[in-house]
Amino acid sequence: MKKIFILFFISFPFFACSQEKVSLKDKFEDYFLIGATINQEDYQIIDKDEKILKIVSEDFNSVTPENSMKWMHSHPEHSKFTFSNAQKITDFAKENDMYLLGHTLVWHNQVPDYVSKIEDKSKFNLHVKNHIFQLVTRFKGKVDMWDVVNEALNDDGTLRETIFLEMMGDNYIEKAFQYANDTDPNVELAYNDYNLYKPKKRKGAIKIINSLKDKGIRIDAVGIQAHWDLHFPSIEEIEETIVDLAATGIDVMITELDITVIPNPYELAGIAREEFKKFEGDKKWDPYQSGMPDNIQKKLTNRYKEIFELFVKHHDKISRVTFWGTTDKYTWRNENPIRGRTDYPLLFDRDYKKKPAYKALVEMDLSNID
Ligand code: G3I
Repeated sequence: MKKIFILFFISFPFFACSQEKVSLKDKFEDYFLIGATINQEDYQIIDKDEKILKIVSEDFNSVTPENSMKWMHSHPEHSKFTFSNAQKITDFAKENDMYLLGHTLVWHNQVPDYVSKIEDKSKFNLHVKNHIFQLVTRFKGKVDMWDVVNEALNDDGTLRETIFLEMMGDNYIEKAFQYANDTDPNVELAYNDYNLYKPKKRKGAIKIINSLKDKGIRIDAVGIQAHWDLHFPSIEEIEETIVDLAATGIDVMITELDITVIPNPYELAGIAREEFKKFEGDKKWDPYQSGMPDNIQKKLTNRYKEIFELFVKHHDKISRVTFWGTTDKYTWRNENPIRGRTDYPLLFDRDYKKKPAYKALVEMDLSNID
């Protein structure tokens, strides 16, 4: 008995130490990549916040530039490309041997005004082709996968009316994938969208994937964005989404995971920002300004645990799980859909500390999940 007791005390520090050292990327190494985003705004990082970079390099093996490669930042004027911030993230990713996402080539959001002033359809088409060519070429051999087209669907599964649809026609998605493939046949190509748990929207995504495949146009993966909350979508809905999308035969990725814990006046997507202005500063919509209550912390922890149990169960279909952000301090959720709020959607808190949800994930028992 005494012997066992002594042995426990000798081994305890080593045990505690090895527990402490498990990172997210090590924990899920046999299942999928674990990603985070890096932003570029003045309140944030790249060369400004070393603590973020430390977290990203220690816990993650994939990175997505949250904004730097988007059209407004990479191609702000008709004939001007700016890659310095995207390049810094690329260098960081390569120094740390991380899987790098190119986000994103064709998206209706964050497109500079000059693009909508190109009135001639064939010139517009050429401009998009050149945009794709320039970005894919610039990051050839560095970006591992491009989100070629982002958020092309309405919630009812029809194509969203964007400038790309209007100017390039119904087959603009095919063209975008074709241009990306022609520029770099080795980089992986993905379609990325939110609300794919809604059956009609998911059907729309499957239609896009199958139509590309039928026409012999390469698509390697589909991204489920995963901007979710404490209750919606349900685990069953998430499971159906993963299973249905995987049945198309391409990789499924969770690309933008975060769990908002504060209330939202309307459904999360599709409402114009101006409509939320009237709620700014209203405590009803920003209830946890001075900290997250314990019961909400527990709910968040359980929600993350359940979600990851599901991801592990379907790890044969999922190649990557990326969190949209790194710490609660910098999440886009604090500014969306109502500006200036205090949300807690990620695994690291405002002081860069690991939250209980982080601990629950690295301590999960993965042996019984099937
Ligand atoms: O660049 C300007 C800067 O010059 C100005 O000083 C500052 C003042 O607010 O605004 C800056 O623009 C911000 C932009 O990010 C920077 O790239 C916008 O205000 C801000 O609204 C914008 O938010 C980004 C949002 O996409 C735009 O739609 C978020 O950071 C980013 O997390 C979010 O990411 C999207 C994914 O790309 C696609 N899926 C949904 C996801 C969440 O919305």
